[in-house]
Amino acid sequence: MLQCRCLHRVERDRGSGPMRARKAVLFGSRSWVSLHNVLLPLLSILIVMSAPVSLIFGATGGIGSHTARMLCQRGHLLALSSRSLPRLRQLNEQLSATGSDVSHEPELLPCDATDATAVDEVFAKAVERFGRVDRVAHCVGSILLRPLHATTDEQFRDTWKMNTWTAFLVLRAACKQMARQKGSANGERGGSVVLCSSAVASHGLPQHEAVAAAKAGVEGMARSAAASYAPQNIRVNCIAPGLTDTPMAKFITDKPAAKRASEGMHALGRIGQPEEVAAALVSLLENPFITGQTLAVDGGLSSLLSQQRA
Ligand SMILES: NC(=O)c1ccc[n+]([C@@H]2O[C@H](COP(=O)([O-])OP(=O)(O)OC[C@H]3O[C@@H](n4cnc5c(N)ncnc54)[C@H](OP(=O)(O)O)[C@@H]3O)[C@@H](O)[C@H]2O)c1
Repeated sequence: MLQCRCLHRVERDRGSGPMRARKAVLFGSRSWVSLHNVLLPLLSILIVMSAPVSLIFGATGGIGSHTARMLCQRGHLLALSSRSLPRLRQLNEQLSATGSDVSHEPELLPCDATDATAVDEVFAKAVERFGRVDRVAHCVGSILLRPLHATTDEQFRDTWKMNTWTAFLVLRAACKQMARQKGSANGERGGSVVLCSSAVASHGLPQHEAVAAAKAGVEGMARSAAASYAPQNIRVNCIAPGLTDTPMAKFITDKPAAKRASEGMHALGRIGQPEEVAAALVSLLENPFITGQTLAVDGGLSSLLSQQRA
């Protein structure tokens, strides 16, 4: 654990032999113990103050949970959100069990991200717990595989709501909070947001009209917000995955013929793994000189002619 490692370093740096003897003379063993008791909690507070605070929506999903794991391993303080508290608790247990750097218990914040008030409350609670929010990942969304003529009004609205509306609510709350922050991690102002788009926003795949429209909206909104909030050092980017092996894609990946056909559309001849997409997401969250970009993480789906045979 990050905190434990740092504390061990302090223990080690206390030294032994003559150094230790000199300290005992200076403080006496009892005063050294009380100094030890004061210094270590102080050091722990300093670690919390300097670690970035990351808030993940859709944290229990395929891409969201790998993002949580990676940020945890980097020593971030985590606020995790999705609708189901039991699944958030399960994720929390998994983070601890993998030996990740859970130096501080993540804040679990169940919320329906289609509800504006609930999203604002998640930010308020994360700030109440950690004092600020430095990084935000939006990993909520849906897929609708249906040709335009067979798409109902309700299906189109639902797809827009799950993808564009939730991204709008999260991005708006993030920009408001980050603009208020005078000094975030490393003394920088502002923060960083990554939204999930999809390869279908830029590549015309049949039967994806609703989700293509919704995700293209997410990308456009992210670019404009990146321009609006750059003066406050708030960076906004998107990742655009190809088909990725997560619960969301199960209705395709569970059918061998459909899965093979999808693999054949990706130039690399396979679908993505959630940890591959999460790694790209985390790199966009962390790189301080990238903003207003959409990074394709799609095995060539959106830009290369596939030579694979389905
Ligand atoms: N998988 C793919 O092939 C693929 C391809 C392109 C783009 N993407 C995009 O990548 C992002 C992540 O997808 P994924 O594949 O990781 O999906 P996933 O495994 O299905 O995870 C979705 C996450 O969102 C949460 N969620 C769903 N509805 C919610 C709501 N109304 N409010 C709050 N949380 C909600 C889910 O938890 P609860 O159900 O407990 O709330 C879960 O944590 C999405 O934006 C998706 O559109 C995925």
